[in-house]
Amino acid sequence: MKICMIGTGYVGLVSGACFADLGNTVWCVDKNKQKINMLNNNKIPIFEPGLKELVYKNYTSGRLKFTPDLSLGVKNSDIVFICVGTPTSEKNRSAELKYVFGAANELASYINKFKIIVTKSTVPVCTGDKIEKIILKKKQKRLFEVISNPEFLREGEAIRDFRFPDRIIVGSNNKKATKKLESLYEPLIKKGAKFLSTNRRGAEIIKYASNAFLATKISYINEIANLCEKTGVNVEDVSIGIGLDQRIGGRFLRPGPAYGGSCFPKDTKAITVTGDLFKTNLSIIKAVIKSNEKRRKFLTKRVVKILSNKVKNKKITFLGVTFKPNTDDMRQSSSLLMVPFLLKKGAKITYYDPSGKKKEFSNHKNLLFCNNINDACNKADLLIIHTEWEEFKALDFKKLSRNKKFMIFDMRNLYSVESMKKKGFKYYSIGR
Ligand SMILES: NC(=O)c1ccc[n+]([C@@H]2O[C@H](COP(=O)([O-])OP(=O)(O)OC[C@H]3O[C@@H](n4cnc5c(N)ncnc54)[C@H](O)[C@@H]3O)[C@@H](O)[C@H]2O)c1
Repeated sequence: MKICMIGTGYVGLVSGACFADLGNTVWCVDKNKQKINMLNNNKIPIFEPGLKELVYKNYTSGRLKFTPDLSLGVKNSDIVFICVGTPTSEKNRSAELKYVFGAANELASYINKFKIIVTKSTVPVCTGDKIEKIILKKKQKRLFEVISNPEFLREGEAIRDFRFPDRIIVGSNNKKATKKLESLYEPLIKKGAKFLSTNRRGAEIIKYASNAFLATKISYINEIANLCEKTGVNVEDVSIGIGLDQRIGGRFLRPGPAYGGSCFPKDTKAITVTGDLFKTNLSIIKAVIKSNEKRRKFLTKRVVKILSNKVKNKKITFLGVTFKPNTDDMRQSSSLLMVPFLLKKGAKITYYDPSGKKKEFSNHKNLLFCNNINDACNKADLLIIHTEWEEFKALDFKKLSRNKKFMIFDMRNLYSVESMKKKGFKYYSIGR
C-alpha cells in the first residue's frame, strides 16, 4: 500500500519504518526540515533501539522516503496517518490539538483522489468529527474517510511493540475503510495480534482509558509501597501476590519514581478535562494525577532525609535521568524536579545516562555530565539509581565507590537488600 505519515517523531518514524518493512511504500513527512535532513543522511533524531538499522534497510530499498513536502506525501498515498504531537495545552490541562487540526487543514488541500485519513495521534473523543469538518471545508465527503487507529507502542520497545502488538484498534464509521486498515495490518494479525474494530469515538476513548488505567496501576503500587515501608513488608512480595490474580495481572506493579514520559502525564490530564467537558467527573483519574504529583515531591524529600537534611556540598550522582530506560526522552521525568531541587539546596551533582547529555540540564551550575559510570561515581556521597538501564543492573559498587562506601538510593529496586547489607553499603530502596 501507499502510505503517508504526517509527523516523523517517535510514533510516525517508528510506525513508518515498520510499515515500510512490511512491504509498503511510506512517505514520512515532517515540518522540521532539520529532522528530515538528518533522516535523509542516515541519522536518527531519536534514541530507539534497532531503529537506525530498520530505517537504513528500508530507505535504501526505496520503500521509505523522507520529505518536508506534505503535498508529495499526500498525493502519492492512499492512507494518510496523522502522527503529530498532542502535548498538554498551555492554557489548561487539555490536549493541544493545533498540530492535529493544522495537519488536517494542510493535507485537505492535497487530496487528489479517495484517501483514508487516520488519526494515530492520541486525541480526545470527538476529535475525528472535528477533523472531518475541517477537511469538508476543502473537499467533498466522497473523497475521504476519517478514522482512528490509536498507537500503543512504548518508547524503548517501540519496534517490538509495533510488530507484536497485543491489539490493533480501528475506530471507523465506514466498513470499507476498516477493511482496508485490516488488510494493512494483516501481517501482524496473522502473527497473533488481536484486531478490534469499533466506532471512531470508541477508539479515541480506548486509547485514553488504557493509558489512564496503566498510570493508575503505577500510582497504586507506589502508594502500597509507602505502606510496606512503614510496616516492614517487601512490596515485591505484594506485587507478586496480587499480580498472580489473573483479574489483576502482574505487569505495571513495580514501584518507583512518579510516572513520567510524553504520554501518561498528559493523557491522564487530558481525559479528565474531556470528562469535565461532558459533565462526567473522572474522580479516580484525578486522584491518580494528584498522587503522582505528590510522588515526585515525596521521593525528593526522601533523598534529603537520607542525607540527614544536610544537602549542602554533598556530592550526589544520578545514574539515569530519563523517565525510563532505552529512550532519550526526558519529558516529565522525575529527575527534572529532583535535580534542580537538590542543586538549589547546595548539592553538587554528576550524572550519567546511556542516552547522553541532556539539554534540559545545560544551564545549571554544579551539575556535570560524565560519559561513563566510573567518573560519575567518583567521590560521591550518595548514588541515586534513577532509571533502570541494563548497564546499571550489575554494578561493582566496591570498585565504583573506591572504598569510600557511598550511600545508595535505588529507586528501581535493582539490587537485593540483603546482598547490599552484606557488602556494607547504606542502601535504600522502594517499599522494602
Ligand atoms: N511517544 C510515544 O511513546 C507515543 C506512544 C503512543 C502514542 N503517542 C502519541 O502519538 C502522537 C505523536 O507523539 P510523538 O511522541 O511521536 O511526538 P513527537 O513530538 O516526537 O513528533 C511529532 C512530530 O510531528 C511534527 N509535526 C507537527 N506538525 C506537523 C505538520 N503539520 N506537518 C508535519 N509534521 C508536523 C513535529 O515536527 C514532530 O517531529 C502524540 O499524540 C502522542 O500522544 C506517542
